[in-house]
Amino acid sequence: MPQPAPSPLPRTVAWIGDEQGHLELLDQTRLPGAIVVLQPASAIEVAEAIARLAVRGAPAIGVAAAYGLVLGVRQLRPLPDAFVAAVRSVAARLAAARPTAVNLQWALDRCITAARALPTLPALLQEARAIEAEDRAASERLAAHGAPLVPEGGTVLTHCNTGRLATAGDGTALAVLFSAWQQGIRFRVLADETRPLLQGSRLTALELHAAGIPVEVLVDGAAAGLIARGQVQAVFVGADRIARNGDFANKVGTYGLALACAAHRVPFHVVAPRSTFDPTLANGAGIPIEERDPAEVLTLAGQPVAAIGVSARNPAFDVTPGSLATSLVTDMGVLRPPFEAAIKNLFAARR
Ligand code: MRU
Repeated sequence: MPQPAPSPLPRTVAWIGDEQGHLELLDQTRLPGAIVVLQPASAIEVAEAIARLAVRGAPAIGVAAAYGLVLGVRQLRPLPDAFVAAVRSVAARLAAARPTAVNLQWALDRCITAARALPTLPALLQEARAIEAEDRAASERLAAHGAPLVPEGGTVLTHCNTGRLATAGDGTALAVLFSAWQQGIRFRVLADETRPLLQGSRLTALELHAAGIPVEVLVDGAAAGLIARGQVQAVFVGADRIARNGDFANKVGTYGLALACAAHRVPFHVVAPRSTFDPTLANGAGIPIEERDPAEVLTLAGQPVAAIGVSARNPAFDVTPGSLATSLVTDMGVLRPPFEAAIKNLFAARR
């Protein structure tokens, strides 16, 4: 049965009040059918929400974890000289929730640094708020830099969900599409459904539909054939971790899309803020790939789709060589190959 498109959606992640306030997370596992806002009472509940994808998308989990740290440290009530140790131990619990998106560890590291400079709860909350505000600003800059890459009158394809539900702002790859549309560029979108958890059909199609952008959902396996038949003029995806040479992890299925685009000379754009770059990794070989519960593959909407006793593999991400990307759209501008030098300059410019 068709699902209603609830609009407008509540904020993906919101801290309400001062350091004694509370955290709200839109439960994305319930979309598009129901709007359920969670109020996690502890860092453990935030970690669980991240692990079960109630809050998801690389930048959004970083923001949620930063607020989760406030909840966790508040609960521990550490004495001033034990404050930083408490922050570190709660941060370790949150960081373990999901391994692939570097934004999670990046946000927690920033909070640890802030706590070392000023070990108080208000300072910790201030840092979490700063991370959220910077992510919103980064989204705006990604959108501005990427919009000119959207082909007028064309069809663009996207994978997983990279929109308002995945960040504190308008998104990464989807923010580019929202911005282009607002500027009057007209195009259609094909949204990979993104098995096994259907972020494409449940979330991306919802966001694009609500914005009035024509969108059609397709099964993941249909993408390469449509690319080969000339029915896709560009692909826009996000990333969860980008190594120094441009290799990047994103939702499983991204690598296959990049190969199809390379084979058929279709532009393949990766859109990500600087918080998604991991300067400690020379290439994609060191990116940890999350393996999730096989039950996610063996069931669909709670119904078994394989015989009892059949097992499954469920890698949540894959790594695409940077050499297959046409451009890396960052909040500092559009990087072109060779990415190694361009990424080095990007981080040199930040200092
Ligand atoms: O498992 P998810 O839904 O968190 O995966 C999200 C993605 O793969 C996105 O493409 C990615 O986080 C980058 S864009 C926000």
